[in-house]
Amino acid sequence: MCGIIGVVGTPDALDTLLEGLARLEYRGYDSAGVALVRPGETWRARTASGTESVRALVEACREAPAGFASGIGHTRWATHGAPEAENAHPHLDCTGHVAIIHNGIVENHAELRAGLEERGHAFMLADQDMTEVLAHLIEEARRGGADLVEAMRQSLGRVRGAFAVAAVDATEPDVIVAARRVSPLIVGTAPGRTYLASDVPAILDRAGAFYAVDDDQVVRLAPAGFSAVDLEGAPVRLRQLAIDWDLETAEKGGFEDFMTKEIEEQPTALANTLLDRRRGDGTITFDELRVADAELLEVRRVVIVATGTSHHAALVAKYALERWARLTTEVDIASEYRYRDPVVEVGTLVIGVSQSGETIDTIQAVREARRRGARVVAVTNVVDSSLAREADAVLYTRAGLEVSVASTKSFVAQVAALEMLALRLAQLRATLPADDVEAHVRGLGALSGLVGVALARRDAVTDVAKQLVGARDFFYLGRHVGLPTALEGALKLKELTYVHAEGYPGGELKHGPLALIEPGVVVVAVATDPAMYDKMLSNLAEVKARGATLVVVATDDDETIESVADYVLRVPGTEPLFTPMVDVVPLQLFAYAMARGLGRNVDRPRNL
Ligand code: M6R
Repeated sequence: MCGIIGVVGTPDALDTLLEGLARLEYRGYDSAGVALVRPGETWRARTASGTESVRALVEACREAPAGFASGIGHTRWATHGAPEAENAHPHLDCTGHVAIIHNGIVENHAELRAGLEERGHAFMLADQDMTEVLAHLIEEARRGGADLVEAMRQSLGRVRGAFAVAAVDATEPDVIVAARRVSPLIVGTAPGRTYLASDVPAILDRAGAFYAVDDDQVVRLAPAGFSAVDLEGAPVRLRQLAIDWDLETAEKGGFEDFMTKEIEEQPTALANTLLDRRRGDGTITFDELRVADAELLEVRRVVIVATGTSHHAALVAKYALERWARLTTEVDIASEYRYRDPVVEVGTLVIGVSQSGETIDTIQAVREARRRGARVVAVTNVVDSSLAREADAVLYTRAGLEVSVASTKSFVAQVAALEMLALRLAQLRATLPADDVEAHVRGLGALSGLVGVALARRDAVTDVAKQLVGARDFFYLGRHVGLPTALEGALKLKELTYVHAEGYPGGELKHGPLALIEPGVVVVAVATDPAMYDKMLSNLAEVKARGATLVVVATDDDETIESVADYVLRVPGTEPLFTPMVDVVPLQLFAYAMARGLGRNVDRPRNL
């Protein structure tokens, strides 16, 4: 997830770009850059100073020559390649005239690059960069006589993946050409000036009218306005957007808070995390995970260390690694691991899972594991984070920057990444028939849609929360992977509402906690796995008999549950090991609605 801005037709192009980038920092801030164009000259500046990248860019731009009326700018949240200035956008072609910015993933970048190199293009960056190929593709099409729109169309016709992309060319300086697939892009207009942005806040107070670029549309921006075509070149009209937001609302994408925005981003987070993970022959591959197959084949046992929500994602992964890859898997709370004299045998793979990659307990745990001889893989959302640097290899979730303290989209992205890794290990170890691997990969691909269905039921969940807002005791029950889902639901509720909530294995109920169940207690149960259903129903009967109020997460085809539960939160059914990614959605929405009902600050819970 990166921020994009562009402008044509204004004498203060640079100010517009820098101000816009400052307002896009919530989309990513690990590096930033601008390119300005005028006839025959492209001027570029790029910086990478962590959270200070945009401020450093402002300083670097003090040396910019005056008189540029067009340009593009980018603030980056790295998903590949370290957050260093040389990886920051814009990237240039061989001539130095074409500059390009990109948010997304070019799946076939390696093969495109190989072809371009064969044809004599010189690349500045290491082979994992995905964006530089776009600049060279455009250059090649331009050399063939195409104008910038045609060059963009031809180039994107060769690209597989997701993109919001914008290009300028000093040989056509009054024009920006941009296109989108999956990643957002909008156009804004004002007399004599036209703007481009990934998000409204970047241009909110400069443009008078706003238009959405839809998937596979290419838009040409000029001072007098814009025109658009589809990838086949047929003219299209952009949808006008009714925007009456203030700046704060705009930064939250029109949502009331970052938590809602991030919950709603889950389908995209899932899709991005899973993008580009297969070769043509069906082999699962992780570009950034630099571990040889031979090394993965030596793995005899997996230990996962993590905290909080990441720990719950790890608990789900245990089921997948054991069932699909037949690997004994232990999951440890990171803050406990290094104090218990852990056994690290030959063949132990330790996976550290952390959204931020900066959780000190997780870093210390993997450090200890390495000291004892384990191979360490980091699963993190932040490229080049401390955890990524501490590990032997990294697998990135591509959920985008998570601003809200309560983790939401990183949970689904972590589960997806870890399950994909489990399928890769199963493939290598031949512990799962190829058809089953194929079916599961397809199933993972369908999850974005199912999460979208669950999200669309927000109002129904909110109605349930309104009925229960006065309750003070919650038990969350689950079995199998429903257990980590229940633990995550309880964590969301307690950190957001400050109300007591505990997650428990359904089967443990009678070994103690049942004594606490009485009228007024709310039991939230996850009952979406057919194999565990009868067991869960019998747990529910036990708590119901003691007067608890029952809220049950159940699948759409469950016709029994209404007779048992007081409230049902419906979700679409899926393969049991995928259910946490769908079932967590109503639990996030429930915790959110409860917190709002209690007047809590959902983005910044107390003490955290
Ligand atoms: O960045 P990490 O994934 O390492 O963070 C782990 C926990 O601190 C984090 O998940 C925390 O529990 C969240 N506030 C949960 O919503």
